[in-house]
Amino acid sequence: MKTIVHLSDLHFGRVDYKRIKPLVTLLQKIDPELIVISGDFTQRAKEEEFIEAKKFIEDLKKPLFVVPGNHDIPLYNIYRRFRSPFKKYLKFISSDLSPYYQDKDIAILGINSVRRFTISSGRISKKQIKEAESRLEKLDDKILKIIVCHHPFDLPIKKDTHHKHTHKVVARSKLVIKKFSKYKVDVFLSGHLHLQHVGDTTIRYKIKDFQSLIVQAGTAISIRRRGEPVSFNVLKLTKEKITVETFAGNHNESTYENIFTETFFKTSEGWRKNISQVN
Ligand SMILES: [Fe+2]
Ligand SMILES: [Fe+2]
Repeated sequence: MKTIVHLSDLHFGRVDYKRIKPLVTLLQKIDPELIVISGDFTQRAKEEEFIEAKKFIEDLKKPLFVVPGNHDIPLYNIYRRFRSPFKKYLKFISSDLSPYYQDKDIAILGINSVRRFTISSGRISKKQIKEAESRLEKLDDKILKIIVCHHPFDLPIKKDTHHKHTHKVVARSKLVIKKFSKYKVDVFLSGHLHLQHVGDTTIRYKIKDFQSLIVQAGTAISIRRRGEPVSFNVLKLTKEKITVETFAGNHNESTYENIFTETFFKTSEGWRKNISQVN
């Protein structure tokens, strides 16, 4: 079994500092093989924010798999935004905007959905789809395949009417899911909405004999909240079963608690939720 922690939307510059220590302590206890962070490390892509974010991710002392978010490129410095949007991200967080990880059990592909022209919404290009496909087509069927992208592939049906207009799935998500269904991608991990959500591809995408998980992490430590507490997810993965444990910050701010767990089982049509309970 592989344990992967999924954090998102740290937003250094708008961080609830008292959350950091309990989170780092708990993550050491959970002891995952890998920590995925799906973007928005900073609030305004300022150097001092990136320095704080870098310290935080180093303190985790775990292998990391990261992609940038729309807040990791400058908003107001137009010159920098157009000429070298990822300069500070590349310097402080990761030198790879399209990371790839593979071992004998899992493959993880990072897709950079951040676009300098569209301030907040994201897009995946046809070239990126092709590049991902060339990796996916080489993978053995038995390898679990995970896609990480800042912008979401699904939207939670809940709360936050105030931000409803900004809630969009990543552009070309339909094409991406359709193309990737050929390679039986197992899990899509995203952030951006600051809303936790565990779903699957069936309702939005309806592809025959294909059902994969769509897991959305909330903000792990930011005060930029959309009506729900800080949270993160822990994925426990085997070839037959995936559990997603959601941890949320508790009221006395001393720790994060496992508030619910969703279990999925592999079937011939893909991943099915709690199939053991269906009769
Ligand atoms: Fe964010
Ligand atoms: Fe974002």
